[in-house]
Amino acid sequence: METFRAFLHAFQLRGFPWVSIRIVVALPEVILGIETSCDDTAAAVVIGGQLSANVVASQQTTHLRYGGVVPELASRDHQRRIVPVVRQALQEAGLHPQDLDAIAVTYGPGLVGSLLVGLSFAKAFALGLGRPLIGVNHLEGHIYSVFIEPPSPPFPYLCLIVSGGHTQLVRVDAGFRHTLLGRTRDDAAGEAFDKVARLLGLGYPGGPEIDRLARQGRPDFVTFPRPRLEGYDFSFSGLKTAVRYYLDQFSQAERIRLLEQHRADLCASFQQAVVDVLIDTLRRAILDTGLRHVAIVGGVSANSGLRAAAQALAESLDVQLYIPPLPYCMDNAAMIAITGYFKAKSGWKSPLTLAATPTLSD
Ligand SMILES: Nc1ncnc2c1ncn2[C@@H]1O[C@H](COP(=O)(O)OP(=O)(O)OP(=O)(O)O)[C@@H](O)[C@H]1O
Ligand SMILES: [Mg+2]
Repeated sequence: METFRAFLHAFQLRGFPWVSIRIVVALPEVILGIETSCDDTAAAVVIGGQLSANVVASQQTTHLRYGGVVPELASRDHQRRIVPVVRQALQEAGLHPQDLDAIAVTYGPGLVGSLLVGLSFAKAFALGLGRPLIGVNHLEGHIYSVFIEPPSPPFPYLCLIVSGGHTQLVRVDAGFRHTLLGRTRDDAAGEAFDKVARLLGLGYPGGPEIDRLARQGRPDFVTFPRPRLEGYDFSFSGLKTAVRYYLDQFSQAERIRLLEQHRADLCASFQQAVVDVLIDTLRRAILDTGLRHVAIVGGVSANSGLRAAAQALAESLDVQLYIPPLPYCMDNAAMIAITGYFKAKSGWKSPLTLAATPTLSD
């Protein structure tokens, strides 16, 4: 309820008596969220702004041996899992399909074959039940993931999105009103973690592995570059290349020995460089914008080094920091359901002709 009040506030409906809104309009309360933009098949239920069920079937094992997501395998896996995952979410929430008020679904950005499975299912389900379809931008889902569980930030807030495909700094002024302040010009932070993990002989996804090893390593073992760009833009491909050049100076035998002895040190050194770049940009943006509430979302927000550095930054600048609990950092349908809930409340409805949009921007 508090969360919705914050959104009403943001939509400048504050002057409305809250009770009368409930009487005049039949507000949608029960939202099913579906997320299939990459390699996680996920469904969640939000009732009255509270999360009631959150199911994620990860395909990690399917893609492990290929060192990355194979799009064709991902979409086939979504097809196999979508019905059981939705059924489980409804069961956990104690609901029948007819109890749903709306179906929210990710329609981009992401892999087209993966998006199509979730979107086609959601359209058919919405049509069959006679309920509205609500298309959700996956990145908006990440942005509003801080509203799944309290504490949630009041508007306006600064939001750093650090995920597998995106690194963006966004100013969020109100519900669904945000401005892009900066973005990566090449690799996303998560992508850099995954690519460097591969160079260091670690599995996919690399972020969690680097994070785990970095805790045992020395961050000053190698000083990798910390690219600083104009404004609030980021660049991570040079950093990844610097790791490769560092390794390339050794013969194969030396490299094997180096990795045996110093893999954790290299993980810690690389991670520290990424964290320094993100925190430096965040610090400048906080000081320049004067915003007092800061959120960090997306898969890389699970990183323990980034979380600790962000907490220290927040304390030093006396700002409030909001990072979702770990299950809501990586892809999940709870963030799609909560975003769908806010969209439904504001009367949003998507046409059944809504297309999967792999390159959908913010
Ligand atoms: N503890 C961690 N430390 C660093 N990176 C991590 C950690 N946990 C996950 N990641 C990274 O997060 C990324 C996955 O995040 P997410 O699921 O949000 O991305 P995505 O959905 O693939 O991309 P996008 O949201 O941009 O479309 C991967 O690159 C993964 O390595
Ligand atoms: Mg994501």
